[in-house]
Amino acid sequence: MNRICNLFGIRYPIIQGGMVWCSGWKLAAAVSNAGGLGLLGAGSMHPETLIEHIHKIKSATNKPWGVNVPLMYPEIDRLIDILIAEKVGIVFTSAGSPKKYTAKFHEAGIKVAHVVSSSKFALKCEEAGVDAIVAEGFEAGGHNGREETTTMTLIPQVRQTTSLPLIAAGGIGSGQAFAAATALGADGVQIGTMFALSEESSASEAFKKRCINLDEGDTMLCLKKIAPTRLVKNHLYNRVAEAEERGAHAEELKEILGKAASKRGIFEGDTENGELEIGQVASAIKEIKPVSEIINTLIDEYEMTISKLKSLSF
Ligand SMILES: Cc1cc2nc3c(=O)[nH]c(=O)nc-3n(C[C@H](O)[C@H](O)[C@H](O)COP(=O)(O)O)c2cc1C
Repeated sequence: MNRICNLFGIRYPIIQGGMVWCSGWKLAAAVSNAGGLGLLGAGSMHPETLIEHIHKIKSATNKPWGVNVPLMYPEIDRLIDILIAEKVGIVFTSAGSPKKYTAKFHEAGIKVAHVVSSSKFALKCEEAGVDAIVAEGFEAGGHNGREETTTMTLIPQVRQTTSLPLIAAGGIGSGQAFAAATALGADGVQIGTMFALSEESSASEAFKKRCINLDEGDTMLCLKKIAPTRLVKNHLYNRVAEAEERGAHAEELKEILGKAASKRGIFEGDTENGELEIGQVASAIKEIKPVSEIINTLIDEYEMTISKLKSLSF
């Protein structure tokens, strides 16, 4: 039996990562209804908006779902009160230390997974008592590890560091990659980019269209002085890259980004002046598909890969 499926009560060990401006109730419910685990992305929601999405997802699925909470959320204590009051069963925390909040979530009967980008932080997760670890490699969309450790390198090392249920993230865009992550020691996968570019994602059509037309090398990790983020090379990125090249400080970089840069890019569809967060694997995605088709294809490809590998002999 698969440990991630057991832990969260789901059919397939496929998690839809929380994603600012993409993962509202529609996307999360679609993933949960298709047998994975959908996560609401609290990072781009005011507390009242989150409550609304929680109510909507409750009536859109009777399958397990969860909420992603980036721990630098400005109103974190209010948010935690909401999660407890609404009896949310599963929380995926990220961007911060799991030490402070894990015990509080557990007291409320909430299962906790935490996202890391190194073995060192995986160990801290174990000390904090989390139920599962998401190890995310450098290929991933969104905020990223400073050290640029790839999924291929990271997963086996985290696997050696901890025996906790392990979810691989970063660069998973096919059942073949899902099988590879399992071979490296993961119990399941967290996928962002593929679901950000699905029909049910709340990202703007302009963002999705731009991302499915990317080539290899069209995204870059930048903004290490603020928070390392993988961005599509557009006009805003060029301004950031030029400033970074001449050693600009964090303050100037923040000024270049301006307010709500990811909302402008992802949600409002300003594909030149907004921040377009997406993973490297976007260059392999050429169509916007419904979530159910994405998950069915992942499972078919996974099973085909496993039986193909079994028949290989040396
Ligand atoms: C548009 C976008 C927004 C994201 N926002 C968040 C977020 O708010 N919180 C978080 O923990 N991870 C965030 N991520 C990371 C995803 O949850 C996931 O771990 C990552 O996308 C996996 O790698 P992949 O993009 O290669 O599939 C985001 C990713 C993308 C593409």
